[in-house]
Amino acid sequence: MKDAQPNTVYLKDYKLPEYLIDSTKLHFELQPKGTLVKSQLKVRRNPAAGAGLPPLLLDGVELELLSVSIDGQLVPASRYQEIPAGLSIEVEKPEFELEICNRISPENNTSLEGLYLSNGMYCTQCEAEGFRKITYYPDRPDVMSKFTTTIVAPRQYPVLLSNGNEIERGATEDGRHFVTWEDPFAKPAYLFALVAGDLQRVEDSYTTASGRQVTLQIYTEAKNIGKCAHAMRSLKKAMRWDEEVYGREYDLDIFMIVAVDHFNMGAMENKGLNIFNSACVLASPETATDATFQRIEAIVAHEYFHNWSGNRVTCRDWFQLSLKEGFTVFRDAEFSADMNSRAVKRIEDVSLLRTQQFAEDAGPMAHPVRPDSYMEISNFYTLTVYEKGAEVVRMIHTLLGAEGFRKGSDLYFDRHDGQAVTCEDFVKAMEDANGVDLTQFRRWYSQAGTPVLDVTDSYDEASGSYTLTVRQSCPPTPGQKEKLPFHIPLALGLLSAEGKDLPLDEAGNTQLVLPVTEAEQTFHFSGFAEKPLPSLLRGFSAPVKVRYDYSSEQLLFLMRNDSDAFNRWDAGQRLAFAALGQLQKDYRNGKTLQLQPELVEAYRSVLRNRDLDPALVAKMLALPSEQTLAEEAERIDAEAIIEARKFARHALAEALKEDLLESYRRLHKDKPYSPEAADIAERSLKNTCLDYLCATEDADALLLAQQQFDKAANMTDCAAALAALVNYGNETDVDKSLETFYERWKVDTQVVELWFSLQSGSARWGTLERVQTLMAHPAFELKNPNKVRAVIGAFANRNFAQFHRTDGSGFEFVAQQVIALDKLNPQIAARLVIPLTRWKKYSSALGEKMRQSLESVMQSGKLSADLYEVVSKSLQ
Ligand code: PHE
Ligand code: ZN
Repeated sequence: MKDAQPNTVYLKDYKLPEYLIDSTKLHFELQPKGTLVKSQLKVRRNPAAGAGLPPLLLDGVELELLSVSIDGQLVPASRYQEIPAGLSIEVEKPEFELEICNRISPENNTSLEGLYLSNGMYCTQCEAEGFRKITYYPDRPDVMSKFTTTIVAPRQYPVLLSNGNEIERGATEDGRHFVTWEDPFAKPAYLFALVAGDLQRVEDSYTTASGRQVTLQIYTEAKNIGKCAHAMRSLKKAMRWDEEVYGREYDLDIFMIVAVDHFNMGAMENKGLNIFNSACVLASPETATDATFQRIEAIVAHEYFHNWSGNRVTCRDWFQLSLKEGFTVFRDAEFSADMNSRAVKRIEDVSLLRTQQFAEDAGPMAHPVRPDSYMEISNFYTLTVYEKGAEVVRMIHTLLGAEGFRKGSDLYFDRHDGQAVTCEDFVKAMEDANGVDLTQFRRWYSQAGTPVLDVTDSYDEASGSYTLTVRQSCPPTPGQKEKLPFHIPLALGLLSAEGKDLPLDEAGNTQLVLPVTEAEQTFHFSGFAEKPLPSLLRGFSAPVKVRYDYSSEQLLFLMRNDSDAFNRWDAGQRLAFAALGQLQKDYRNGKTLQLQPELVEAYRSVLRNRDLDPALVAKMLALPSEQTLAEEAERIDAEAIIEARKFARHALAEALKEDLLESYRRLHKDKPYSPEAADIAERSLKNTCLDYLCATEDADALLLAQQQFDKAANMTDCAAALAALVNYGNETDVDKSLETFYERWKVDTQVVELWFSLQSGSARWGTLERVQTLMAHPAFELKNPNKVRAVIGAFANRNFAQFHRTDGSGFEFVAQQVIALDKLNPQIAARLVIPLTRWKKYSSALGEKMRQSLESVMQSGKLSADLYEVVSKSLQ
């Protein structure tokens, strides 16, 4: 925690580093309470930064300084100064060797940045500004240096790892041992990593396109060694894919992944030594669900892809974070689409964007993909920087085409290899390689908020011409009242009455990407014998909201006929939105609820359609989540949302019972587990059917769930059945099943996390009282972010009904946990508080309760910079 009130950092204040570090030699003597760090830096005045020799400013947080030497001479304390942010040293010559010794305490480090202990193993997390918790250093991404690292540790830590290649190992006189690593690539400090522990490993190898052999290793605690195979397979697939699609090869002789139980995020791309949250790398069919298998494949690929988009070419400053994250998320999304179902992957990503990112863009923390300012950079690892940033890169891909985009990425990697650059450099490379002008497009990087497209159309029978009118607008966001028009690629198809794609131009193209660039614009098409039906924003070609006044019949028609799978799904979503909107209204007006028969019939025909990918059917059968409904609402009436959705689920389940049962039986197969797309698809539809069936609360349906739970040979089926029981079963049975499950799986950390989140995230089971009981469970640990996410996070983010209890006790509970967590782990506290920050969107009584709980956090004492930024901005 920082002492002074947090400062705001501005992009416009960026200055070149005053000094460069040509090489960094680190020496660690590991001790839980007193790890000694010796750092030897070759320092050189940056010629580009100006004349003279200003003091050398080094970042440092919570460090105990032991000594400072320059060129082998101890520097007297009068020549340097410990300042709040670190250390200031007087400089006399433009080039010198600096040696600093300091001490740190990994054991007391609960923030999980810098060097810390997790289940007895040492590990580091340096992005974004964690290296300053290890030693004094210019901790900024535009200072790149060649690192050599020596780790000295007692023998009970047999495995000692760092970045690059191992160059030496041996014993010390006092019976400890050491290993020295050298990373031949210059890198910023945020990519530094160190691991020491009693770890086992699985090993494999990979031959690159140019024929180089690379050793691949995954390290875990011994008990998890059987859960690495999927990650290893995913890694090899990712390496091949990056060669084929981007022409990028791996560049070191060894690539290591380490699984760590205590981790703030998903995983980290440290050069040659990726560190993963155990939950994002360990899996076996018995312990992990299909969703986890797919998440692991995506994250392993994501971190691997960073080796080029992030490490070889890195960020100049943290305002440019989306340069590496937006691009890399786009890369991993395309990889996943190639490995699995493209349409389903797109639907999942867009669902996430629409619920979470749109909410962020409409809330108090809204910021552009490239923010202009921050108090604490950790708060800007957001859906906007990651997911919207990926959409921005996807739009460039759409505008340039696959080939043009590849030319652009080749130029980008070529031009900037070994450099720390900006989003501007990325766009410029895309422009230069293709001879296009993306001036207006750049506004996607600087303007926050979700643009809205209002689309109307008209048809002239006499001439057979069709006109589409598009108006764009973007709501104000903090600090940005007025927005200039965006360049929006609007992918369009027009359908005939037979449901066929009509030619849109002379060339006979049946899909065009319309360049929407003005506040209002019309597009003309001709040669139609009747009024066509527009299929708008195909494949979700831009991160915007599209309003067009579709009738129910038109939506049903699109659901059946659109050649764009994404838009077929989206038509169903629009239909469901309309139906749920009506139900909410009726609920508020005290009317009897009745589900639109069109929706029932639409779902029935989807369920009966055997030509569709079952995974797509499962997506099409899913009603928009409560969170999505909340995001779409002008004002959130939590009770109406909950009741409307509950009613719709129940009504659909009753009406479709026979069809659901038929599909369930057909898809419930007794076959060995495989995480292949086709099998995942069948399981997802089967378990969707099971969940609907249980929503009837019929004894027969619950018995099916119980049987599936009792017999399941894989975690996907087991967890789906348990979730259905938890949501709809009777209390005694559920209690027993939960108990059985826990006894069977208490040895497995990841399964216990799943067990926690199934309960906390369930509106029916996860009452506030039960969630409090879970926090007292021996397996719960406030210092472990995964446990916090599984219990408190699942409650606040997924348990819409209990979190929004009308007495405000759900909010108060979360506020209390946030306060407690802030003392241990500010990053996690600042994330957990987010569901409390949207109080302005709620109906007045509930919104006021939410605001009060946020206020209680503010008043609770001195907050970390992380939490202070989020809470203070949300109370404004
Ligand atoms: N850079 C990581 C990723 O997205 C995320 C991360 C950020 C991990 C900060 C840890 C700390 O791949
Ligand atoms: Zn990333």
